[in-house]
Amino acid sequence: MAANLATTGPAQAQTPVGLGVKKADPGAKKAFIDDLISRMTVEEKVGQLRLISIGPEMTHAQLSEEIAAGRIGASFNTVIRRDNRPLQEAAVQRSRLKIPLFFAYDVVHGHRTTFPIPLGLAASFDMAAIERMARVSAVEACADGVDMTFAPMVDISHDPRWGRTSEGFGEDPYLVSESARASVRGFQGPSVDRPDSIMAAVKHFALYGAVEGGRDYNTVDMSPMRMHQTYLPPYRAAIEAGAGGVMVALNSINGVPATGNTWLLQDLLRKEWGFSGVTISDHGAIAELLKHGVASNAREAAKLAIKAGIDLSMADQIYLAELPGLVASGEIAMAELDARVREVLGVKYDLGLFADPFLRMGKPADDPVDEKVDSRLHRQPAREIARETIVLLENRNRTLPLKKAGTIALVGPLADSGLDILGSWSAQGVAGLAVTLRAGIEKAVAGKARLLTARGANVTDDAKVVEYLNYLNWDTPEVIQDPRSPEAMIAEAVALAAQADVVIAAVGESRGMSHESSSRVSLDLPGSQRALLKALKATGKPLVVVLMNGRPLAIGWEKDNADALLETWYAGTEGGNAIADVLFGDHNPSAKLPISFPRSVGQIPIYYNHLRIGRPLTEGKPGNYTSQYFEEPNGPLYPFGFGLSYSRFTLSGLKLSASRISRGQSLTAEATLANEGPYEGANVVQLYISDSFASVARPVKELKGFQKVALKPGESRVVRFEIGEDQLKFVNAELREVLESGRFDVQLGLDSRDVLEQSFELA
Ligand code: BGC
Repeated sequence: MAANLATTGPAQAQTPVGLGVKKADPGAKKAFIDDLISRMTVEEKVGQLRLISIGPEMTHAQLSEEIAAGRIGASFNTVIRRDNRPLQEAAVQRSRLKIPLFFAYDVVHGHRTTFPIPLGLAASFDMAAIERMARVSAVEACADGVDMTFAPMVDISHDPRWGRTSEGFGEDPYLVSESARASVRGFQGPSVDRPDSIMAAVKHFALYGAVEGGRDYNTVDMSPMRMHQTYLPPYRAAIEAGAGGVMVALNSINGVPATGNTWLLQDLLRKEWGFSGVTISDHGAIAELLKHGVASNAREAAKLAIKAGIDLSMADQIYLAELPGLVASGEIAMAELDARVREVLGVKYDLGLFADPFLRMGKPADDPVDEKVDSRLHRQPAREIARETIVLLENRNRTLPLKKAGTIALVGPLADSGLDILGSWSAQGVAGLAVTLRAGIEKAVAGKARLLTARGANVTDDAKVVEYLNYLNWDTPEVIQDPRSPEAMIAEAVALAAQADVVIAAVGESRGMSHESSSRVSLDLPGSQRALLKALKATGKPLVVVLMNGRPLAIGWEKDNADALLETWYAGTEGGNAIADVLFGDHNPSAKLPISFPRSVGQIPIYYNHLRIGRPLTEGKPGNYTSQYFEEPNGPLYPFGFGLSYSRFTLSGLKLSASRISRGQSLTAEATLANEGPYEGANVVQLYISDSFASVARPVKELKGFQKVALKPGESRVVRFEIGEDQLKFVNAELREVLESGRFDVQLGLDSRDVLEQSFELA
C-alpha cells in the first residue's frame, strides 16, 4: 500500500529546488516519475538503488562526490543537519537530474530521547504509549534531518537466546501486530510528507526471529502454515498501517535467502499484500548471497536480488558494479530496472522531497548549536511511558512500594550505568543524559531517606565475554570492569546491606548482551551477579531485585528468593526516575510480560500459544509418555501476559451474549474488573480464544484482544469484547483463511494462565 498518497495535511513550506512538484495526486505522481525515468541513464538509475552509510569506507567528501555524480540514491547514519545538508546540496544542485536523497537511520525506540526498548514497550500493552513514543521519536529525528527509520522491528521471537528479541515486541502475533500499527502511526503521523513525519521501514522481512537455535543470522526453516498464522501477520499489519518501506531479512527461508526470494518479495509482498513502497536489503545482504551459496559471483548475486525485487542495496557495491552490465547484456530488462527505480523515486515523492528536499532539514540559521543539549529531549513522555513498561513479578509481604524513609542500600553493576539503561539501538541517546537508577532514587528520597551505594559485582567476570562486548561497534567501551576482586565487591555490598532497612539490587545484562549478534547459550544471570544476590539474601534484609535485560531470563532463584522482583527491561533516558516512581509507589505497576519467561534454557522454544498435541501433560497426573521434560514442570516460570499490581484486582462474572451464533454474526464477552486493593492502578484484561476442533491442530489459546483499564480503589468496571469472524478465522492447511464451525472457548484473564472460561458454538 502506498504510504499516505492522498494526504490532507497542511501545505508544506515550499522551497522548490530543481524539481518542484504538486503532491496528493497518484496520477501526478506516476506522470512525474515516468517523465523522470525517461530522462535517466542506466548509471543514474543504478545510482538511485544505492543506500550508503558514511563510515570508514566512504568519507563525507567522497560521499558528496558520489552523490554529485548521481551514484547514490539515499544515505543512512548521517544524522545531523549540518552533515546532511551538504549531501542534499550535492544531490539537488550538482547532480545532473537534481534528484534529492533521503536520509535514513535506525530510530527504533527513540532518537535523542531514548524510550524503553521495544520488548518493554510491548509490556505496556498500551498502544497509545507506543504511538506516542514513535511520534516523539519522529519529531526529534526530523529535527536532525532524518526522513526514514528502519523500524518497527516486528520479528516474532520464541527463542530468547536470540539477542534481537530486545528489539521486537515479543512472542504474540496479535500484540506484535498492534504494536506494529501503533509504531507506524506514530512515525508517519497524519501524513508522511510532513516536516515532522518520518517514513517507517518495517523489518526484518521475514521470519528473522525464528533463526535456528536463536543464533543470529542462522537459517530459518518453517512450515507455511506457521508462517501465515504466526510470523507474517505483524509485517502485514505494518504495511496495512501504511509503512512505506520494508527491510528484507538476512536469513534464508526454507532454503532460499530472503534477499533473493521472489516468492517473498514479489508474490507475497507485492502481489498478495499489495505493497508498493521500497524494499531495502539489510546491511551487505546482496553480497552475502555468495556466502549463502546461491550465487557463485557478484554478478549472479546482483541479478538474483534485483529479479527477486530488492530496490535499495544497503552498504554494498554490487548493484553499482554489476547492474549496468546485466542491463547491457539483456539479462535484466530495462523494465525490470525501472520497476525498482520507480519505488525509490516513489518514496522520495511520498516523503515530499521533490517538493522540498530540505523539508526536514530546515535552514542553516535554525540548526542547533549543540545537537546533544538536554533541552532537545522529551523527558516527560519518556518517564510516563517508561513507567508503563515495568512489570512487577513478585511482591512478598508487600515489600513494595518502599517508604521514602530509613536507610536504603542500592547495589549492583547496573545501578548507575547510563549506557546500559538506554538499551541497544539507542540512536542518538546520550548515556550522560540518562537518569540512572541511582540518580532516580537519589532524587526520589532526597531529604527523606539515607541512600548507600556499592557496585557489588561486575556484570560478568568472564573476560572473554567482556572482550566480545567491547568489540561491538560503539564509540565507548560497552562494559567497564571494576578492577577489585569479586569477593571485595561483595563484602562491601554486604556491609552496606547490614546497615540498611532494605536492599535494592540492580542486576541483569549489560545492554550489549541483548543486541544484534549477541546470542546466548545460557539465560541465567551471570555468575558474578547471582553470587552477589546470594550474599545479599544471606544478610536477611528485604531484597528488592530490579532486573535490567533485553530478553527473558531464567530467574528461578530470583523468583524464589527476592522479596520483590521488578522487570524493568532497559527503561531509557528517564529510566531511573520511572523505576523510582514504581519502587516508591508514585506509580502502580501495570505492565504484563509480552513473552514467556522460561524456567531454563532447555525449555526453549517456549510460547503460550502452542498447538494442541496428541499426548499433552495433564497437571497433577504422572507425566510418563506425555509431552514433557522429566526434570522440571512443564510451562514457563512466568507466563505470557503476567504482571502484578500493588492493588488487588479481581476479574469475575464472565458472560457471553450468546451460546450459539451463525456466520456473519458476532457476540460479546464481558466480565467485571474490580480494584479491591488500596491503590489506584490499571490492569490489562486479556481475551483469549481457543478453537476446540478444526481441520488442523489449532493453538491451545490465542490472544485476540486486550484492554488496559484504570480504576480507583473500590471501583469496578464491566469490560466488553466483541467477538466476530476476525477473531475466529485461521489459516488452514491449504493456506487459506477460513472460518470453521464448532465450539470455541472464550477466556478472559489478567494473564494467559489464570482465566475465566465460557464456550459458544459457531453454526
Ligand atoms: C541490522 C538492521 C539495521 C541495519 C542498519 C543491520 O545490521 O540488521 O536492523 O537496520 O544494520 O543499521
